[in-house]
Amino acid sequence: MDKMNIKVNENNVSVKPNKANSIEAFYDNTAILMTGATGFVGKGILEKLMRVCPSIAAIYVLIRPKDQTIQQRLKELIDNPIYDNIRVKHPSVLSRIHPVQGDVSLPDLGLSPADRIMLVKNVNIVFHVAAAVRFNNPLNVAVNTNTKGTARIMELCTELKHLISVVYISTAYSNANMLEIEEKVYTTSFKPSSVINMCETGDQKSIDLLEDEILKIYPNTYTFSKNLAEQVISNNTDSFPVAIVRPSVIGASLKEPCPGWVDNIFGLTSIFMLIGKGTTRAMLVKRSKRLDLVPVDYVVDMIICAAWHVTLHRNDEVKVYNSTSNAHPIRWNQMKDIIVQCSREMPMNNVMWYPFCRLVPNQYGYNVVDIFLHILPAFFMDIFLKLSGRKPMIMKTSKFFNQVVRAVKFFGQHEWTFHQDNVTNMIQKVKLLKDRDTVKLDLCDMDWKKYIRTYMTGIEKFILKEDSKSIDAAQRRLLFLYWVHQITQVFGVVVLLVIMLYVVY
Ligand SMILES: NC(=O)c1ccc[n+]([C@@H]2O[C@H](COP(=O)([O-])OP(=O)(O)OC[C@H]3O[C@@H](n4cnc5c(N)ncnc54)[C@H](OP(=O)(O)O)[C@@H]3O)[C@@H](O)[C@H]2O)c1
Repeated sequence: MDKMNIKVNENNVSVKPNKANSIEAFYDNTAILMTGATGFVGKGILEKLMRVCPSIAAIYVLIRPKDQTIQQRLKELIDNPIYDNIRVKHPSVLSRIHPVQGDVSLPDLGLSPADRIMLVKNVNIVFHVAAAVRFNNPLNVAVNTNTKGTARIMELCTELKHLISVVYISTAYSNANMLEIEEKVYTTSFKPSSVINMCETGDQKSIDLLEDEILKIYPNTYTFSKNLAEQVISNNTDSFPVAIVRPSVIGASLKEPCPGWVDNIFGLTSIFMLIGKGTTRAMLVKRSKRLDLVPVDYVVDMIICAAWHVTLHRNDEVKVYNSTSNAHPIRWNQMKDIIVQCSREMPMNNVMWYPFCRLVPNQYGYNVVDIFLHILPAFFMDIFLKLSGRKPMIMKTSKFFNQVVRAVKFFGQHEWTFHQDNVTNMIQKVKLLKDRDTVKLDLCDMDWKKYIRTYMTGIEKFILKEDSKSIDAAQRRLLFLYWVHQITQVFGVVVLLVIMLYVVY
């Protein structure tokens, strides 16, 4: 049964019915703690919160120093052009973002005692977004950052004096060993506390053996560590409402903060880019399987609404939201056709080959195709680049792509059915809000062709920074490569026939 949660805090924030009327009112005068703000999803959440809820009291962003101080990192973050609109419309909200030095992989989150006290006194809503997202991190690294890091955040949450709710960003593939996934936390035979303990105190050999056991069931250490993090959360939800949002593969934005916005070249974005450039010509996926892709702005809206929904409609368990597109799916072969078509109609700058792509369903087939479509062409193209005085780089790109292929192989061979009962319930409730039109939680009108075109344009703009390309020059180059491609194919067939004749006679 839903129950209304009522609290009052230092900022006089109360989750009363007026808070239930709109997302903006819910966030009015709240203090937020966010991890992962410097990442792709984090930047999107920050932008949307400031744009639609400018009366937020404070946003504390937990940042680790890298080669810059946290103040420099924050400055670089808010100087990002995606905040230009905020700078114009709500400049004061930018001054309410406060960096807090921390690292989720360190004891006590690496917080100074003074910062911890300040957070304990002020924070109302927590978004835990940070994660080590490399699929193949060693088990102890993935577990320390993603599982123990989440336990450290939950420990802090239990201390927060005026906490309203917590949202944890997991992944739809946290239970990738199952094919039908409900919106609930599943337990595993590996207990989070035992795995954390082993990673902290075990010797390397025992950790490696455990990792081998885990990888017999889970595709990688990343999804496994996120699964354990969900269990950690589910064991700690007695005193405050917690939502777990599970996005599938997050792609460029549909509309917000601007169409096609994308921030890094992980996973699918690098595949799209390399197909567009003509350097990737084969993928190891089953053509008819669903690709569960979701635009980043859809995920951001779901995260922002989940805090509201779980607070106002809490029940006794953690609420899980599968942020996926399987109800309105696209398949790998459709996706590939759209990208190739798009890459030919609107070619990128400096395309390396006429774009095409074969989908190969199994590893053996892929290994053969990889030699003929990637390794040999890359070898000859690098020789050509070297002879013409340029830096050879195609073999390097090909190696990078093969790492991506290995990482996504499992996800291109299977498809999952994700239940969305909580998402549907939230959509119904959001429809009653005054500001319902400021969020998009439903992909029922998704035009995949249009979206992937926008995505490709976004890659050119935000990743390749090809704002000033000459369409004519790009098309002339593509036409030239088309004929090179045709001649090479004919030449390849002739060589094959000659070899066959030679073998037969
Ligand atoms: N992208 C996807 O397709 C996808 C799909 C499903 C779920 N997710 C989940 O969505 C969340 C955000 O992913 P993303 O795509 O935005 O990843 P991202 O761009 O790689 O960002 C990761 C963020 O986590 C921070 N971080 C990593 N380790 C940290 C540590 N030890 N202490 C503090 N901060 C740390 C990073 O900070 P630095 O800048 O300091 O490195 C960065 O801000 C993650 O929880 C991820 O599991 C992502």
